[in-house]
Amino acid sequence: MSSSIGITFPQDFLWGVSMSSYQIEGAWNEDGKGESIWDRFTHIPGNIKNGDSGDVACDHYHRYKEDVDLMKELGIQAYFFSISWPRVLPKGDGDVNKAGLDFYKRLVDKLSEAGIEPCVFLYHWELPQPLQDKGGWVNRDIVQLFADYAKLIGRELGDKVKRWVMIDEPQVVASDGYLTGEHAPGIKDFGSFLKVSHHVQLAQGKAIQTLRDIKSNFQMGAAFNLTPFYPIKDDEKDREAARKLDEFLNRWYLDPLLRGEYPPLAREIGMKPDQEDMNMIHQPIDFLGVNYYTRGIAAYDPTKPLKARVISKNTPTTEMGWEIYPDGLYDLLTRLKRDYNDPVFYVTENGAAFDDKVEKNSRIEDDDRICFLRDHMIAAKRAIRDGIKLKGYFVWSLLDNFEWAKGYAKRFGLVHVDYRTLKRTPKKSAHWYKQVITNNGFTFF
Ligand code: FCB
Repeated sequence: MSSSIGITFPQDFLWGVSMSSYQIEGAWNEDGKGESIWDRFTHIPGNIKNGDSGDVACDHYHRYKEDVDLMKELGIQAYFFSISWPRVLPKGDGDVNKAGLDFYKRLVDKLSEAGIEPCVFLYHWELPQPLQDKGGWVNRDIVQLFADYAKLIGRELGDKVKRWVMIDEPQVVASDGYLTGEHAPGIKDFGSFLKVSHHVQLAQGKAIQTLRDIKSNFQMGAAFNLTPFYPIKDDEKDREAARKLDEFLNRWYLDPLLRGEYPPLAREIGMKPDQEDMNMIHQPIDFLGVNYYTRGIAAYDPTKPLKARVISKNTPTTEMGWEIYPDGLYDLLTRLKRDYNDPVFYVTENGAAFDDKVEKNSRIEDDDRICFLRDHMIAAKRAIRDGIKLKGYFVWSLLDNFEWAKGYAKRFGLVHVDYRTLKRTPKKSAHWYKQVITNNGFTFF
């Protein structure tokens, strides 16, 4: 007798995809859109691999209908997308660009008609350049400006959007934008970084309050890129190194929002945030969005500022060089449940870049992506079985798109994009994901 085993997800489990405006929209200077820090940054030679930019990207601004039809065809139930702040407010505040706002209204309408829940990241890294010219996230005025922007979007889209994240991955805004300088605005300055890491959290808190004032039944969340750190060996110094990295990259954002205080490392660095600020950051949320891609291995290194170093492992990695480690998702969720009072979770991003090959018949047999997603879903299911309130899973990403400093060289999509013709071709993983959604799980044979 043959039998098959498989896994099934809870009935109301939400299956989605996520993408971000700059990475897909293109139309960088059309219909009144203002310049963003990413427009400025990508137009400076040397900043982005192959001189790529998001000027055209996937041309989603003009092809959103086709893209939503594709989502519908794949059975996608929810879509996290971001709003380009300068498309709506070209100067960052003041006059609204009606054409830009209309684009998002049409997108939301189209999604709703298709039976796909529109979910919004208010900010996925596109600061209006005029605000950068006044200091960007270093200037504390940004907190109020962001809340005003949130209010506008909440009022305009709030009849159809109920699930919101304020700032996708605040840690990346601060670290990559102001410490390593790999992302726009390309600043490398520890003092600026510290201010930014605080201001993004204040802005997040104030915007959460502002949106709740518009509708009390909005589902308000935060989405953090979280990397669990493991010591390279079981020795006190390496464990301490893992703790430090965890505090600096994960708890720096988790603790203020969910506990109202920075982790101990903040005191060691000499940070003394005032209590009113901490109250502003410490907002009740309805869900915690987890963006999970990989883990980190930590080793003691007295030459580094944190006395800690991240080690690369020679294990299988994705094209990004990120170790494939599905158990990290389980460990992360378990630990977050324990340390932060059992929140409701969504995996708001999970996915992988691989060197997809287009066969002669235009098929893309991306089995490595299927394995990656399947193994992470198994880890997610294990977490649910163990009592974790995980309510949904969003694949990053529907389309291949502009992967920030790596340009178009890294492909994360379930759907291949030919950047010359902009033709979309679902990969094998897209068909596989459709089956997962249809069956609310999958079987192994
Ligand atoms: C996440 C970003 C997303 C994409 C993926 C690969 O950290 O939020 O825009 O770049 O990584």
